[in-house]
Amino acid sequence: MNKEIKVGVLGAGSMGSGIAQIAATQEHQVVLVDLNDDALAKAEASLKKILARLVEKEKINEATSKSIIGRIKFSNNVNDFNDCGIVIEAIIEKLEVKQQVFTQLEKIVNDDCILASNTSSLSIASIASACEKSDRVIGIHFFNPAPLMPLVEIIPAVQTTEETKNTARALIDSWKKVTVLTKDTPGFIVNRVARPFYGEALKIYEEGIADFATIDWAMKELGGFRMGPFTLMDYIGNDVNYTVTETVFGAFYYDPRYRPSFTQKRHKEAGWFGRKNGRGFFDYSEGAEKPEPNKDEQLGAEIVNRIVVMLINEAADALFLNIATREDIDLAMTKGVNYPCGLLEWADEIGLEEVLLRLEFLHAEFGDDRYRPSVLLRRLVRDNKTFY
Ligand code: NAI
Repeated sequence: MNKEIKVGVLGAGSMGSGIAQIAATQEHQVVLVDLNDDALAKAEASLKKILARLVEKEKINEATSKSIIGRIKFSNNVNDFNDCGIVIEAIIEKLEVKQQVFTQLEKIVNDDCILASNTSSLSIASIASACEKSDRVIGIHFFNPAPLMPLVEIIPAVQTTEETKNTARALIDSWKKVTVLTKDTPGFIVNRVARPFYGEALKIYEEGIADFATIDWAMKELGGFRMGPFTLMDYIGNDVNYTVTETVFGAFYYDPRYRPSFTQKRHKEAGWFGRKNGRGFFDYSEGAEKPEPNKDEQLGAEIVNRIVVMLINEAADALFLNIATREDIDLAMTKGVNYPCGLLEWADEIGLEEVLLRLEFLHAEFGDDRYRPSVLLRRLVRDNKTFY
Protein backbone atom coordinates (compact mmCIF):
# COMPACT_ATOMS: atom_id res chain seq x y z
CA MET A 1 0.00 0.00 0.00
CA ASN A 2 2.73 2.35 1.14
CA LYS A 3 4.77 1.70 -1.99
CA GLU A 4 2.04 3.26 -4.10
CA ILE A 5 2.88 6.67 -2.71
CA LYS A 6 4.85 8.65 -5.25
CA VAL A 7 7.69 10.49 -3.53
CA GLY A 8 8.88 13.92 -4.60
CA VAL A 9 12.28 15.23 -3.54
CA LEU A 10 13.23 18.86 -4.12
CA GLY A 11 16.96 19.63 -4.27
CA ALA A 12 19.38 17.15 -5.82
CA GLY A 13 22.33 17.94 -3.57
CA SER A 14 23.96 15.46 -1.20
CA MET A 15 20.85 15.08 0.99
CA GLY A 16 18.19 15.16 -1.72
CA SER A 17 19.88 12.58 -3.92
CA GLY A 18 20.43 10.32 -0.87
CA ILE A 19 16.74 10.56 0.06
CA ALA A 20 15.71 9.82 -3.55
CA GLN A 21 17.98 6.75 -3.50
CA ILE A 22 16.32 5.46 -0.30
CA ALA A 23 12.77 5.96 -1.59
CA ALA A 24 13.53 4.33 -4.96
CA THR A 25 15.25 1.40 -3.20
CA GLN A 26 12.05 1.02 -1.18
CA GLU A 27 10.20 0.63 -4.48
CA HIS A 28 8.56 4.05 -4.66
CA GLN A 29 8.30 6.01 -7.86
CA VAL A 30 10.41 9.10 -7.24
CA VAL A 31 10.63 12.53 -8.83
CA LEU A 32 13.87 14.32 -8.00
CA VAL A 33 13.68 18.00 -8.93
CA ASP A 34 16.44 20.61 -9.00
CA LEU A 35 16.41 23.91 -10.83
CA ASN A 36 20.07 23.50 -11.66
CA ASP A 37 20.63 21.05 -14.54
CA ASP A 38 24.26 20.51 -13.56
CA ALA A 39 23.18 19.44 -10.06
CA LEU A 40 20.71 16.96 -11.60
CA ALA A 41 23.34 15.51 -13.94
CA LYS A 42 25.78 15.22 -11.03
CA ALA A 43 23.16 13.53 -8.85
CA GLU A 44 22.34 11.00 -11.57
CA ALA A 45 25.99 10.22 -12.25
CA SER A 46 26.80 9.86 -8.56
CA LEU A 47 23.77 7.64 -7.92
CA LYS A 48 24.79 5.37 -10.80
CA LYS A 49 28.27 5.14 -9.34
CA ILE A 50 26.92 4.27 -5.87
CA LEU A 51 24.64 1.57 -7.31
CA ALA A 52 27.49 0.14 -9.42
CA ARG A 53 29.58 -0.13 -6.25
CA LEU A 54 26.71 -1.93 -4.48
CA VAL A 55 26.51 -4.40 -7.40
CA GLU A 56 30.28 -4.90 -7.24
CA LYS A 57 30.05 -5.66 -3.53
CA GLU A 58 27.15 -8.04 -4.29
CA LYS A 59 24.80 -6.09 -2.01
CA ILE A 60 22.31 -5.83 -4.89
CA ASN A 61 22.19 -7.38 -8.38
CA GLU A 62 22.31 -5.66 -11.74
CA ALA A 63 18.54 -5.92 -12.27
CA THR A 64 17.79 -4.28 -8.90
CA SER A 65 20.27 -1.51 -9.64
CA LYS A 66 18.55 -0.85 -12.97
CA SER A 67 15.08 -0.81 -11.42
CA ILE A 68 16.19 1.59 -8.65
CA ILE A 69 17.56 4.12 -11.12
CA GLY A 70 14.59 3.47 -13.42
CA ARG A 71 12.16 4.51 -10.69
CA ILE A 72 13.73 7.98 -10.37
CA LYS A 73 12.67 10.73 -12.71
CA PHE A 74 15.29 13.51 -12.76
CA SER A 75 13.49 16.74 -13.55
CA ASN A 76 13.94 20.51 -13.51
CA ASN A 77 10.19 21.12 -13.38
CA VAL A 78 8.41 21.35 -10.01
CA ASN A 79 5.08 20.71 -11.76
CA ASP A 80 6.16 17.07 -11.94
CA PHE A 81 5.26 16.85 -8.23
CA ASN A 82 1.56 17.13 -9.10
CA ASP A 83 0.66 13.50 -8.28
CA CYS A 84 3.06 12.94 -5.35
CA GLY A 85 1.79 11.74 -1.95
CA ILE A 86 4.72 13.41 -0.22
CA VAL A 87 7.34 15.96 -1.23
CA ILE A 88 10.54 16.20 0.83
CA GLU A 89 12.40 19.48 0.42
CA ALA A 90 16.21 19.45 0.68
CA ILE A 91 17.29 22.76 -0.86
CA ILE A 92 19.51 25.53 0.47
CA GLU A 93 19.17 26.31 4.22
CA LYS A 94 17.57 29.77 3.90
CA LEU A 95 14.17 30.45 5.46
CA GLU A 96 12.93 32.95 2.85
CA VAL A 97 13.81 30.59 0.00
CA LYS A 98 12.18 27.60 1.70
CA GLN A 99 9.04 29.64 2.45
CA GLN A 100 8.74 30.75 -1.20
CA VAL A 101 9.19 27.17 -2.34
CA PHE A 102 6.54 25.82 0.08
CA THR A 103 4.02 28.45 -1.08
CA GLN A 104 4.73 27.39 -4.67
CA LEU A 105 4.60 23.64 -3.91
CA GLU A 106 1.19 23.94 -2.28
CA LYS A 107 -0.26 25.24 -5.56
CA ILE A 108 1.06 22.22 -7.48
CA VAL A 109 0.31 19.22 -5.23
CA ASN A 110 -2.99 17.62 -4.16
CA ASP A 111 -4.66 18.64 -0.89
CA ASP A 112 -3.63 15.44 0.88
CA CYS A 113 0.05 15.60 -0.15
CA ILE A 114 2.42 15.88 2.82
CA LEU A 115 5.03 18.64 2.50
CA ALA A 116 8.19 17.88 4.46
CA SER A 117 11.43 19.75 5.06
CA ASN A 118 14.82 18.22 5.72
CA THR A 119 16.02 21.42 7.40
CA SER A 120 18.69 21.03 10.14
CA SER A 121 18.22 24.35 11.86
CA LEU A 122 15.10 26.24 10.78
CA SER A 123 11.80 26.09 12.64
CA ILE A 124 9.19 23.90 10.97
CA ALA A 125 6.46 26.26 12.20
CA SER A 126 8.00 29.14 10.23
CA ILE A 127 8.29 27.03 7.06
CA ALA A 128 4.71 25.74 7.50
CA SER A 129 3.43 29.29 7.92
CA ALA A 130 4.12 29.84 4.20
CA CYS A 131 1.34 27.34 3.37
CA GLU A 132 -2.40 27.90 3.57
CA LYS A 133 -2.90 24.29 4.61
CA SER A 134 -0.04 24.40 7.09
CA ASP A 135 -1.26 21.33 8.99
CA ARG A 136 0.24 19.02 6.31
CA VAL A 137 3.76 20.39 6.80
CA ILE A 138 6.29 18.46 8.90
CA GLY A 139 10.05 18.16 9.45
CA ILE A 140 11.70 14.90 8.33
CA HIS A 141 15.37 15.25 9.19
CA PHE A 142 17.78 12.71 7.70
CA PHE A 143 21.48 12.45 8.59
CA ASN A 144 24.38 12.51 6.18
CA PRO A 145 24.91 10.20 4.27
CA ALA A 146 21.15 9.55 4.25
CA PRO A 147 21.22 6.02 2.77
CA LEU A 148 23.71 4.87 5.44
CA MET A 149 22.64 6.68 8.61
CA PRO A 150 19.69 4.88 10.23
CA LEU A 151 18.25 7.83 12.19
CA VAL A 152 15.49 10.15 11.01
CA GLU A 153 14.03 12.85 13.27
CA ILE A 154 10.29 13.47 12.80
CA ILE A 155 9.36 17.02 13.74
CA PRO A 156 5.72 18.06 13.81
CA ALA A 157 5.21 21.83 13.94
CA VAL A 158 2.57 23.37 16.19
CA GLN A 159 0.35 23.45 13.09
CA THR A 160 0.89 19.78 12.07
CA THR A 161 -2.03 17.34 12.48
CA GLU A 162 -1.72 13.95 14.18
CA GLU A 163 -2.65 12.36 10.86
CA THR A 164 0.23 14.06 9.01
CA LYS A 165 2.60 13.04 11.79
CA ASN A 166 1.45 9.41 11.86
CA THR A 167 1.44 9.00 8.06
CA ALA A 168 4.89 10.57 7.69
CA ARG A 169 6.39 8.50 10.49
CA ALA A 170 4.84 5.24 9.21
CA LEU A 171 6.25 5.93 5.75
CA ILE A 172 9.80 6.54 7.01
CA ASP A 173 9.55 3.51 9.33
CA SER A 174 8.61 1.44 6.28
CA TRP A 175 11.92 2.58 4.74
CA LYS A 176 13.65 0.66 7.57
CA LYS A 177 14.84 3.85 9.26
CA VAL A 178 14.89 4.43 13.02
CA THR A 179 12.51 7.33 13.63
CA VAL A 180 12.42 9.50 16.73
CA LEU A 181 9.82 12.11 17.50
CA THR A 182 11.05 15.54 18.55
CA LYS A 183 9.67 18.95 19.38
CA ASP A 184 10.19 21.79 16.93
CA THR A 185 13.01 23.45 18.92
CA PRO A 186 16.52 24.52 17.78
CA GLY A 187 18.72 21.60 16.76
CA PHE A 188 15.88 19.10 17.39
CA ILE A 189 17.48 16.25 19.38
CA VAL A 190 20.86 15.44 17.85
CA ASN A 191 22.12 18.90 16.90
CA ARG A 192 21.14 20.19 20.34
CA VAL A 193 22.39 17.39 22.58
CA ALA A 194 25.67 17.01 20.64
CA ARG A 195 26.77 20.65 21.07
CA PRO A 196 29.13 19.98 24.04
CA PHE A 197 30.93 17.26 22.07
CA TYR A 198 32.41 20.12 20.04
CA GLY A 199 32.03 23.09 22.40
CA GLU A 200 33.55 21.51 25.51
CA ALA A 201 36.39 19.93 23.51
CA LEU A 202 37.22 23.37 22.07
CA LYS A 203 37.08 24.92 25.54
CA ILE A 204 39.40 22.27 26.99
CA TYR A 205 41.85 23.10 24.19
CA GLU A 206 41.52 26.85 24.76
CA GLU A 207 42.27 26.43 28.47
CA GLY A 208 45.53 24.76 27.45
CA ILE A 209 44.63 21.46 29.12
CA ALA A 210 45.39 19.40 26.01
CA ASP A 211 45.97 19.71 22.27
CA PHE A 212 43.65 18.54 19.47
CA ALA A 213 45.35 15.16 19.03
CA THR A 214 45.24 14.37 22.76
CA ILE A 215 41.56 15.31 23.14
CA ASP A 216 40.71 13.17 20.09
CA TRP A 217 42.74 10.24 21.41
CA ALA A 218 40.99 10.42 24.80
CA MET A 219 37.47 10.59 23.34
CA LYS A 220 38.11 7.79 20.88
CA GLU A 221 40.27 5.38 22.84
CA LEU A 222 39.02 6.00 26.38
CA GLY A 223 35.53 7.37 25.70
CA GLY A 224 34.66 4.84 22.99
CA PHE A 225 33.41 7.45 20.50
CA ARG A 226 33.79 6.58 16.82
CA MET A 227 35.80 9.77 16.13
CA GLY A 228 37.44 12.46 18.23
CA PRO A 229 35.73 15.88 18.20
CA PHE A 230 38.43 17.65 16.15
CA THR A 231 38.57 14.88 13.54
CA LEU A 232 34.78 15.01 13.37
CA MET A 233 34.67 18.82 13.05
CA ASP A 234 37.24 18.58 10.24
CA TYR A 235 35.05 15.96 8.63
CA ILE A 236 31.81 17.99 8.92
CA GLY A 237 33.68 21.16 7.93
CA ASN A 238 34.49 23.99 10.32
CA ASP A 239 32.43 26.36 8.17
CA VAL A 240 29.32 24.18 8.50
CA ASN A 241 29.86 23.18 12.15
CA TYR A 242 30.63 26.73 13.29
CA THR A 243 27.52 28.09 11.53
CA VAL A 244 25.31 25.46 13.17
CA THR A 245 26.77 26.36 16.58
CA GLU A 246 26.22 30.06 16.01
CA THR A 247 22.64 29.46 14.79
CA VAL A 248 21.80 27.27 17.79
CA PHE A 249 23.38 29.86 20.17
CA GLY A 250 21.20 32.65 18.74
CA ALA A 251 18.11 30.45 18.64
CA PHE A 252 18.51 29.75 22.37
CA TYR A 253 18.61 33.47 23.14
CA TYR A 254 22.36 33.33 23.80
CA ASP A 255 22.32 30.70 26.51
CA PRO A 256 26.05 30.33 27.46
CA ARG A 257 25.71 26.54 27.19
CA TYR A 258 25.79 26.95 23.40
CA ARG A 259 28.43 29.70 23.17
CA PRO A 260 30.59 29.24 20.04
CA SER A 261 34.39 29.19 20.21
CA PHE A 262 36.89 31.71 18.84
CA THR A 263 39.25 28.88 17.99
CA GLN A 264 36.77 27.38 15.55
CA LYS A 265 35.74 30.80 14.29
CA ARG A 266 39.36 31.64 13.44
CA HIS A 267 39.80 28.30 11.67
CA LYS A 268 36.71 29.07 9.62
CA GLU A 269 37.93 32.62 8.87
CA ALA A 270 41.31 31.27 7.81
CA GLY A 271 39.55 28.97 5.37
CA TRP A 272 40.74 25.93 7.32
CA PHE A 273 37.48 24.07 6.83
CA GLY A 274 38.83 20.57 7.29
CA ARG A 275 39.19 17.52 5.08
CA LYS A 276 37.41 19.04 2.12
CA ASN A 277 40.18 21.58 1.53
CA GLY A 278 43.11 19.78 3.05
CA ARG A 279 43.52 21.78 6.25
CA GLY A 280 41.45 22.07 9.40
CA PHE A 281 42.45 21.38 12.98
CA PHE A 282 44.75 18.84 11.36
CA ASP A 283 46.79 19.02 8.17
CA TYR A 284 45.56 16.62 5.47
CA SER A 285 48.07 17.53 2.79
CA GLU A 286 50.22 14.76 1.37
CA GLY A 287 53.15 13.84 3.53
CA ALA A 288 51.92 15.93 6.49
CA GLU A 289 52.90 14.46 9.82
CA LYS A 290 50.13 13.46 12.20
CA PRO A 291 50.64 15.00 15.63
CA GLU A 292 51.17 12.51 18.42
CA PRO A 293 48.74 12.60 21.36
CA ASN A 294 49.86 12.70 24.97
CA LYS A 295 48.62 9.30 26.11
CA ASP A 296 48.45 10.18 29.81
CA GLU A 297 45.50 8.10 31.06
CA GLN A 298 44.68 10.43 33.95
CA LEU A 299 44.57 13.46 31.67
CA GLY A 300 42.55 11.44 29.15
CA ALA A 301 39.99 10.42 31.77
CA GLU A 302 39.67 14.03 32.92
CA ILE A 303 38.90 15.11 29.33
CA VAL A 304 36.35 12.33 28.73
CA ASN A 305 34.62 12.94 32.08
CA ARG A 306 34.21 16.63 31.42
CA ILE A 307 32.79 16.27 27.90
CA VAL A 308 30.55 13.32 28.80
CA VAL A 309 28.95 15.01 31.84
CA MET A 310 28.23 18.06 29.69
CA LEU A 311 26.61 15.82 27.07
CA ILE A 312 24.58 14.08 29.78
CA ASN A 313 23.49 17.45 31.17
CA GLU A 314 22.26 18.45 27.72
CA ALA A 315 20.37 15.17 27.27
CA ALA A 316 18.83 15.52 30.76
CA ASP A 317 17.69 19.04 29.98
CA ALA A 318 16.16 17.93 26.66
CA LEU A 319 14.20 15.31 28.60
CA PHE A 320 13.26 17.84 31.29
CA LEU A 321 11.84 20.16 28.60
CA ASN A 322 9.98 17.28 26.89
CA ILE A 323 11.87 17.66 23.62
CA ALA A 324 11.61 13.88 23.24
CA THR A 325 11.22 10.72 25.34
CA ARG A 326 14.23 9.31 27.19
CA GLU A 327 14.28 6.33 24.80
CA ASP A 328 14.22 8.59 21.73
CA ILE A 329 16.95 10.86 23.13
CA ASP A 330 19.22 7.86 23.69
CA LEU A 331 18.33 6.30 20.33
CA ALA A 332 18.96 9.58 18.51
CA MET A 333 22.53 9.83 19.77
CA THR A 334 23.44 6.19 19.13
CA LYS A 335 21.79 5.95 15.68
CA GLY A 336 22.30 9.54 14.46
CA VAL A 337 25.88 10.21 15.56
CA ASN A 338 27.10 6.73 16.56
CA TYR A 339 27.63 7.42 20.29
CA PRO A 340 28.86 4.28 22.05
CA CYS A 341 25.88 4.34 24.41
CA GLY A 342 22.75 6.39 25.10
CA LEU A 343 23.63 9.38 27.29
CA LEU A 344 20.85 8.88 29.87
CA GLU A 345 21.73 5.21 30.13
CA TRP A 346 25.39 6.24 30.53
CA ALA A 347 24.41 8.67 33.29
CA ASP A 348 22.70 5.86 35.24
CA GLU A 349 25.83 3.78 34.81
CA ILE A 350 28.15 6.49 36.16
CA GLY A 351 25.67 7.30 38.94
CA LEU A 352 23.59 10.47 38.88
CA GLU A 353 25.09 11.75 42.11
CA GLU A 354 28.56 11.54 40.61
CA VAL A 355 27.43 13.29 37.39
CA LEU A 356 25.84 16.08 39.44
CA LEU A 357 28.92 16.41 41.60
CA ARG A 358 31.19 16.85 38.56
CA LEU A 359 28.86 19.46 37.07
CA GLU A 360 28.59 21.33 40.35
CA PHE A 361 32.37 21.36 40.59
CA LEU A 362 32.68 22.89 37.09
CA HIS A 363 29.87 25.34 37.84
CA ALA A 364 31.55 26.53 41.05
CA GLU A 365 35.04 26.62 39.52
CA PHE A 366 34.08 28.67 36.45
CA GLY A 367 31.11 30.59 37.85
CA ASP A 368 29.71 30.24 34.33
CA ASP A 369 26.05 29.44 33.71
CA ARG A 370 27.23 27.15 30.93
CA TYR A 371 27.85 24.51 33.62
CA ARG A 372 24.55 24.81 35.53
CA PRO A 373 23.22 21.33 36.19
CA SER A 374 19.83 20.43 34.73
CA VAL A 375 16.95 20.72 37.19
CA LEU A 376 15.91 17.17 36.27
CA LEU A 377 19.32 15.84 37.32
CA ARG A 378 19.07 17.62 40.67
CA ARG A 379 15.54 16.31 41.25
CA LEU A 380 16.45 12.72 40.41
CA VAL A 381 19.43 12.83 42.77
CA ARG A 382 17.32 14.42 45.52
CA ASP A 383 14.67 11.69 45.12
CA ASN A 384 17.26 8.93 44.81
CA LYS A 385 16.00 7.96 41.34
CA THR A 386 17.58 7.11 37.99
CA PHE A 387 16.65 7.85 34.34
CA TYR A 388 15.64 4.22 33.69
P1 NAI B 1 23.38 20.96 -1.21
O1 NAI B 1 23.92 22.32 -1.35
O2 NAI B 1 24.26 19.78 -1.44
O3 NAI B 1 22.13 20.80 -2.22
C1 NAI B 1 21.08 21.71 -2.34
C2 NAI B 1 20.49 21.58 -3.74
O4 NAI B 1 19.30 22.35 -3.80
C3 NAI B 1 21.41 22.10 -4.85
O5 NAI B 1 21.54 21.09 -5.84
C4 NAI B 1 20.68 23.31 -5.42
O6 NAI B 1 20.82 23.42 -6.82
C5 NAI B 1 19.22 22.98 -5.07
N1 NAI B 1 18.35 24.14 -4.94
C6 NAI B 1 18.59 25.31 -4.31
N2 NAI B 1 17.51 26.10 -4.38
C7 NAI B 1 16.56 25.41 -5.06
C8 NAI B 1 15.22 25.68 -5.45
N3 NAI B 1 14.63 26.83 -5.14
N4 NAI B 1 14.56 24.73 -6.12
C9 NAI B 1 15.13 23.55 -6.44
N5 NAI B 1 16.39 23.23 -6.11
C10 NAI B 1 17.09 24.15 -5.43
O7 NAI B 1 22.69 20.90 0.23
P2 NAI B 1 22.52 19.66 1.22
O8 NAI B 1 23.73 19.51 2.04
O9 NAI B 1 21.99 18.49 0.44
O10 NAI B 1 21.37 20.23 2.21
C11 NAI B 1 20.03 20.37 1.81
C12 NAI B 1 19.16 20.56 3.03
O11 NAI B 1 19.32 19.46 3.91
C13 NAI B 1 19.45 21.82 3.86
O12 NAI B 1 18.25 22.30 4.38
C14 NAI B 1 20.35 21.28 4.97
O13 NAI B 1 20.29 22.07 6.13
C15 NAI B 1 19.72 19.92 5.21
N6 NAI B 1 20.60 18.92 5.79
C16 NAI B 1 21.91 18.80 5.43
C17 NAI B 1 22.73 17.85 6.00
C18 NAI B 1 24.15 17.72 5.58
O14 NAI B 1 24.94 17.10 6.32
N7 NAI B 1 24.56 18.24 4.45
C19 NAI B 1 22.21 16.91 7.03
C20 NAI B 1 20.80 17.05 7.27
C21 NAI B 1 20.05 18.04 6.70
